[in-house]
Amino acid sequence: MAAGVHGGISDGSVVEGNSGRRAIAFTVALSERATSTVSLDYAVTPTSASRGSDFLAPTTPRRLTFVKGANGFTPVAKMVTVPVASDTASEGNETFAVVLSNPSVGVLLADAAGIGTIIDDETVRRPLMGAAVRSTTLAQEPGYADIAGTRFDLLTPENEMKWDVVEPQRGGFDFRAPDAIVTFAVTHGQTVHGHTLAWHQQNPAWLTAGGFTRPELIDILTNHIATVVGRYRGTVSVWDVVNEAIGDDASVRSSIWTTGIGTDAFDIAFRAARTADPNAKLYINDYNIEAPSRKSDALYALVAGMVARGVPIDGVGFQTHRTLGSISAPGLRSQFDRYAALGLDVAITELDVRVPVPASAADLAAQADTYAVARDACIAAPNCASITTWGFTDKHSWIPYFFTGLGAALPWDSNLQTKPAYDVIAPLLRN
Ligand code: G3I
Repeated sequence: MAAGVHGGISDGSVVEGNSGRRAIAFTVALSERATSTVSLDYAVTPTSASRGSDFLAPTTPRRLTFVKGANGFTPVAKMVTVPVASDTASEGNETFAVVLSNPSVGVLLADAAGIGTIIDDETVRRPLMGAAVRSTTLAQEPGYADIAGTRFDLLTPENEMKWDVVEPQRGGFDFRAPDAIVTFAVTHGQTVHGHTLAWHQQNPAWLTAGGFTRPELIDILTNHIATVVGRYRGTVSVWDVVNEAIGDDASVRSSIWTTGIGTDAFDIAFRAARTADPNAKLYINDYNIEAPSRKSDALYALVAGMVARGVPIDGVGFQTHRTLGSISAPGLRSQFDRYAALGLDVAITELDVRVPVPASAADLAAQADTYAVARDACIAAPNCASITTWGFTDKHSWIPYFFTGLGAALPWDSNLQTKPAYDVIAPLLRN
């Protein structure tokens, strides 16, 4: 066998389900870095004799492509779902092997088959993969709509559920734009992450310049939430109830809500959202909280206070608008874990990694590594529910409008061609 790249399986586990399928999770790693791109095939096959005909067949081999980044090849986590005929008395003694084959170059497949062990139902999980989308682009660009509709589990309206779109006049609601995205998602069997209910930006002038009293503002806020969340009850599964509550100075941000209502404005918003849809997950969402900092500590203190007061909050959204190499897996995990200790979910809600444009190949490889840090931190954290990119194509990204000279922040380029960052998230995308 040719020398060069070594590969193998690690973290193999067979995840038991009881609904006619088994999910097998494993990680493929390559070491040594002779080439920039390596492809190989993987398949899952039963190995326990007691399995009998229950496991219908080995999976058809699928191709896996590794692209070398600044730190070499990033291990690729996969989860393969295989159909089974029924659950059997042999549950608990079943094993499967992951088999690697057909490498594109001289890959030495050391330890190429990993045998899993059965673990229980509760651990069947994977983060949902989502993307922020724009209603007008879904309607106008078939290539964009095809990717949005077929590759993701979850869609977030990038702007269409913001206050200035949805309630442009007091009590006058316009749901055409958000309805278009929700209908698109339902048509494609996707869920929707609602964004956002109480924010300091994109509020209409009637609200920000209205001179309202505290009781009036409470009425306006609770009526908005009841109407918007109520409309999508049962369809929008998670809401960014409060967005960007903490300022860059690590104090609670001054906004129409905190100055007009007071420190209990967020509690009121969460309670109104819970009333409007008791089953939706309710998040607080913020940026620059992906590592230990005064700001991330301030958000944690705010959230911990809510939990202590019995405010119905379910999770924390980490926007994760980042630059190259600006996040670390331990840093993210330290944040995810302390919310887990409060009993809360976390999610990566607005992932993008901006680079100088035109982007160099080296920067795109480094960008993939930064995406991999986010991906792997979420996969490893039991409370991480989803990873959403803020857009998915560089053609439609907020970055160039807000950061001069920067862009190319997303997994697909402006021509809808995939980039190295795509290869990082591909294992989690719908095929
Ligand atoms: O597309 C037009 C372009 O045709 C025009 O030439 C240009 C001139 O200003 O404007 C472009 O649209 C802008 C658009 O961003 C581009 O992405 C809009 O003016 C601008 O209002 C819009 O901003 C949105 C921003 O929120 C508003 O604050 C972004 O779309 C949206 O991605 C961004 O999303 C926020 C999240 O809601 C909260 N977290 C941060 C995130 C990024 O700022």
